[in-house]
Amino acid sequence: MDDWIDYYDSTHTIYASKLHRDLHFQLIARDIIGYISSPDAVVLDYACGEALSAAKVAEACGKLYLAEPAPGVRGRLIARFAPNAKIRVRSLDDLRKMDEKSVDLAIMNSVAQYMTSAELDSALAVIRRLLRPSGRLVLGDILRPEVGMFRDVLALLKFAATHGFLKDALYGLASTALSDYRQLRTRVGLQRYGESEMIQKLAAAGFTASRAHVNIGHNPWRMTFVARHAFDRPQVT
Ligand SMILES: C[S@@+](CC[C@H](N)C(=O)[O-])C[C@H]1O[C@@H](n2cnc3c(N)ncnc32)[C@H](O)[C@@H]1O
Repeated sequence: MDDWIDYYDSTHTIYASKLHRDLHFQLIARDIIGYISSPDAVVLDYACGEALSAAKVAEACGKLYLAEPAPGVRGRLIARFAPNAKIRVRSLDDLRKMDEKSVDLAIMNSVAQYMTSAELDSALAVIRRLLRPSGRLVLGDILRPEVGMFRDVLALLKFAATHGFLKDALYGLASTALSDYRQLRTRVGLQRYGESEMIQKLAAAGFTASRAHVNIGHNPWRMTFVARHAFDRPQVT
């Protein structure tokens, strides 16, 4: 296994059980819906994973593009959402061919940690081209340099205890510790960004951004940023 895309295309153990996986995607969908400002909005979920609750998101917007690099995951998305006229599945390359200024809301949740800094820059350029001038990019679940794996474990256990899958979560953590995840985490690593570092990175990519009060998903120690085209900044006279 070479990289994180291969990992997410494999039969991985990142979700401790079906219940964990379902709850995860329900929570992400709920949080994405919170950022949709109009029922006509065109929404892009960049590296959406299995997106099991995407139909809920689609109900709240005009059109939902699910973009996913892992070919196996993408195949399942195509099969799962074929009957849903509001959902379109795309590869990341396809996004380069989409019309510019056609997206109102782009979500990239729990993805930046798996990309090199240069890969994130190119993804930001693709997204900036796609966003309408009034559009927003929501970059969720950003790992901070000063917060280690212990907090990830704690956040998962709290989420599991609240929703009744603590035993599965403990078993899942043990399997993950022995799996390709652990090897990749050691060999390839995960990218982390401080708050001002991410704001600067977004500024260099042509966005003006601020940190949201709450993170998307279950882990309060990770960060979410909301970004807009930098030229949208109100002029001070
Ligand atoms: C933890 S999952 C997040 C899925 C979904 N966004 C969510 O919030 O549940 C990570 C996603 O990042 C994608 N990914 C991993 N490495 C990537 C890379 N280098 N570039 C783009 N996407 C990547 C994987 O295919 C997977 O869909």
